[in-house]
Amino acid sequence: MTIKHRKYDILDMETGELDRRIFIDQDIYDEEMEKIFGRTWLMVAHESLVPNPNDFFLSYMGEDSVIVTRDADMKIHVLLNMCRHRGNRVMRADDGNAQNFMCTYHGWTFSNDGKLGHIPGEQEAYYGDLCKEDRGLYEARVGIYAGIVFANWDQDAPSLEDYLGDARWYLDSNFNRFEGGTVALGPQKWIEPCNWKTPVDNCSDNYHVPISHYSSSVVANKIYNLPMATMEMSLQTPNRNHHVYVNGHALTFRVAPPSNERPVRRGVTPENKPAFDAWEDIADAEAEVRLGAERAKELRLGNHSLFPNTVLGFRLAHPRGPLKTEFWHFALVPKDAPEVVRNAMQNATSQFNGAAGVFEQDDIDNWRQVTEASKSPIARKLRADISMGLKKSGPLEQWPGDHSDRYISENNQRNFYQRWMEFMNADSWRDVHIDPQTAQYEGTASFEGPSK
Ligand code: FES
Ligand SMILES: [Fe+2]
Repeated sequence: MTIKHRKYDILDMETGELDRRIFIDQDIYDEEMEKIFGRTWLMVAHESLVPNPNDFFLSYMGEDSVIVTRDADMKIHVLLNMCRHRGNRVMRADDGNAQNFMCTYHGWTFSNDGKLGHIPGEQEAYYGDLCKEDRGLYEARVGIYAGIVFANWDQDAPSLEDYLGDARWYLDSNFNRFEGGTVALGPQKWIEPCNWKTPVDNCSDNYHVPISHYSSSVVANKIYNLPMATMEMSLQTPNRNHHVYVNGHALTFRVAPPSNERPVRRGVTPENKPAFDAWEDIADAEAEVRLGAERAKELRLGNHSLFPNTVLGFRLAHPRGPLKTEFWHFALVPKDAPEVVRNAMQNATSQFNGAAGVFEQDDIDNWRQVTEASKSPIARKLRADISMGLKKSGPLEQWPGDHSDRYISENNQRNFYQRWMEFMNADSWRDVHIDPQTAQYEGTASFEGPSK
């Protein structure tokens, strides 16, 4: 691929120095909305948020309000929440059930598949001349991975399957594990004073965990009777913790110890442990059929982000200008698990992340300061340093992607900002590369997930 021009050259790959303007500049942000959020597959909802015919759920693609609908034939649509007359929002409620959406300005009324059905004064005011077929709600392309709904404005973009590429091989171990699928509980919504890229970057930042989260880890490890993870443990070689970049997406994962003991699940208490154990016996057997033994028993997905702005699993991080990000935090729990297990999982995820999560509190203070510092013209002359592990990565035979030599590395971050540059310097998808899929899939799990 040849890049015809390089408007953006923000990362020096010899020194790992990064231009801080990308965290605060309004013009750059506006261009991101067009060239990144206007072109990529964005996570917008989960099928469980619109389970029944005529359900809808309001979401965002970048800063654009969109309505995720399930029509009477159970097909999912993602529609720009903008009346095609003058641009009023046609839906204000966060979610609900409706066959039609009536614009409250002049009354144009659209069905939940986007078609314009009724115009007040169609004959009297418009003389029957308005072509209703041309004035339906603007519809995005929809792709569903493991019950998670993605949408894309760009007709030239590759399919969601190609866009996720080999990252799916890892993602399946979490999101495509359960025969009954998952349900999204929530969301908690709040706004953090940080640029949207910093939380994405942070998903692969294993360096900060023993420092920023020290006190939270002391508490969590006491509750779950775990040893404290130290910087030295994370840097040991060979290590079972991995840091990998796959087709635009940044992942961390862990390989289970040889004993294959079950990971300690957050939320397990002496009271609910029998219910957890009984459910896990069934769920683990199902997972092995769906994913094969390696992905079901050995692979444990850790923090990860999907390009551009999906962070920490099923969590929406909507940009709100260069200096703000709105988080929508869900608990994604197995649909068929007993209620006591689902409740414990939901409570545990809220204790760690989410508006009141102890780890979240640690993180946001860092992210706010990284964004704030970039506002200063003096500080901005000093570039950020993401040089850790430079040129210490490469392919591995057994797993797809570009693997960092160490679990603590800034290789995924460098790859993320290079991907950012690739989109920002591209005129169209013709200038953006997609890695060919090479992963081999064991098991019965389909791309769309159990509900298909
Ligand atoms: S803006 Fe919606 S009917 Fe006029
Ligand atoms: Fe963190």
